[in-house]
Amino acid sequence: MKVYLETYGCQMNEYDTEIVKAVLLEADYELTDSTEDAEILLLNTCSVREHANRKVFGRVHSLHHQRNGIRARIGILGCMATNFRQDLLHGSNLPIDFIAGPDSYKRLPQLIEKSLREGEKFYDVTLSEFETYSDVYPVREKGVNAWIAVMRGCDNFCTFCVVPYTRGRERSRAPENIAAEVKRLAGERFRQVTLLGQNVNSYNYEGVDFTHLLEKVSEVDGIERIRFTSPHPKDFPRRLLHVMAENPKVCKQIHLPLQAGSNRILDLMNRTYTREEFMHLVDEIRAHYADMVLTTDIIVGFPTENDVDFAGTISVMESVQFDSAFIFKYSERPKTIAQRKFPDDIPEEVKTERIVRLNELQREHSLLKNRAHIGRIHEVLIEDETTKKSADDFQGRNDGNKIVIFPKGEYRTGQFINVKIESVTPHVLKGNAVNVLENR
Ligand code: SAH
Ligand code: SF4
Ligand code: F3S
Repeated sequence: MKVYLETYGCQMNEYDTEIVKAVLLEADYELTDSTEDAEILLLNTCSVREHANRKVFGRVHSLHHQRNGIRARIGILGCMATNFRQDLLHGSNLPIDFIAGPDSYKRLPQLIEKSLREGEKFYDVTLSEFETYSDVYPVREKGVNAWIAVMRGCDNFCTFCVVPYTRGRERSRAPENIAAEVKRLAGERFRQVTLLGQNVNSYNYEGVDFTHLLEKVSEVDGIERIRFTSPHPKDFPRRLLHVMAENPKVCKQIHLPLQAGSNRILDLMNRTYTREEFMHLVDEIRAHYADMVLTTDIIVGFPTENDVDFAGTISVMESVQFDSAFIFKYSERPKTIAQRKFPDDIPEEVKTERIVRLNELQREHSLLKNRAHIGRIHEVLIEDETTKKSADDFQGRNDGNKIVIFPKGEYRTGQFINVKIESVTPHVLKGNAVNVLENR
C-alpha cells in the first residue's frame, strides 16, 4: 500500500516525518511522491500560527478534489492534531479520516489499518511523558546535515505559544542513545548534525545536561560540525558558552529568540527574562566569542503592545544587531494563556506597520553584518552543487550558518573549502574558492 507524506512547520516536524517513514517502511508500506497513486495521504501539520492552520485546511480540500472522487484515506498528523481533534472530525466537513498526534506515530500502521477496515473517523492524540522515539532510526535523505531530536515537548508555557499543548511535557533522550545515532550518521557520511528540541538547551537526562551532551556528540569522528536549535535565553550557563567558544566542532552560531524588547510585554509573555538580562547575555556570548552569529525570533502586536513597548523592541534590535531575524505578527492560539487572559487587541494594520518596520531594520542590520565579512576567508561546507538561482555556482554554509555561494569547480558536496568573500546581500555571502581543506 502506498503512502504519500507532506510536512509543514518546523524542523521537529521534518524530523518526525523521517520517523513516520521508518515506522511505515518497517510495516511494509511503500512511500510515494505522487498524490495520484497513493492510497493514504498523510499531512504532518503545524499549528503555531493561524496561517499554518489555514494552509492545511486548503490543502486537504485540494487533495480531496484533485483525486476526482477516487477514494484515498487522509490522515492528519502533527501539531494540529491535539487541538483540533473534535473540530476536524465532527465540527467541520473536511474530508479527513483520522488524526494522530506527535506521540502516536509508532501506532500508525494499526491506525491506517483501522481506518481502512472500519471507515469510521477517529483520533489517537494522547500525549506521552516518555515517548522519544529513541528506538526508531529515521529515514533521512542523503546529504551533509542530519537533524536529530534530543528532547521533545516544552514546559515553558510562554503565554502566546501552543507548543506545550500540542507536544506535551518536556522529556530528554538518553545521551548514549543519541551518541549511537550520531556514530551511525557519521558512518553514512553525514558531516554535520543539528540537535533539535523545542527548548534544546534545557536538555537534561539524569544529570547529563546540554553542555555534556554537546561534548559527547563532538567526540564522534567524522562529524565535523554540530549545531542546535532552538535554545531559550534562560538556559545559557557560562560552561555552555565556554564549550561553544573552545570546541572547534560546535558551530559559532546561536538562535536566541528575543520575542519582545519591552519588559512589560516579556512579563506578559512569561519569557522569564528582562531586556537587560537578554542584552547582558549577548554581551557575555560576545565576550566568549566576539564573532558569534546571532539570530532571533520576534513577535509584533502581542496584546496591549503600545508604541513605547514597540520602541523597546527596536532599541534591543539596534543594540544587539542580529545577523538575521524571523519576525511574526502575533496570532492568537487556542488554549494558550494569552488567549484566555488577553484579548487580541492590536489592529491588523498596526501589526502590519510594525512587522514592515522591523523587517526593514533587520535588512539593514543583516547587510551591515554581512559586509563585515568582505575580504575574509571562510571555511565552507559544500551542501549543494547548484544554487536556487544558478547551475554555475556551488552553495554551502560557513560555520556561522550563513549561506556562501561561489563558482563551480572540481569540488563535491560534503567537502570543506576555503572561500574568500567578495560581495554580500542581506541573505548570502558570495566569493571565490581558495583551497580545499584536505584533512576534513
Ligand atoms: N521552541 C522554539 C520555537 C517555537 S515556535 C523557541 O522557543 O524558540 C517559533 C517561533 O514562532 C517562536 O519563537 C515565536 O517567535 C513564534 N510564535 C510562536 N507562537 C506564536 C504566536 N502565537 N503568534 C506569533 N508567533 C508565534
Ligand atoms: Fe513555545 Fe516558549 Fe516552549 Fe518555545 S519555549 S516552544 S515559544 S512555550
Ligand atoms: Fe509548528 Fe508544532 Fe513545530 S506547532 S512550529 S510544527 S512544534
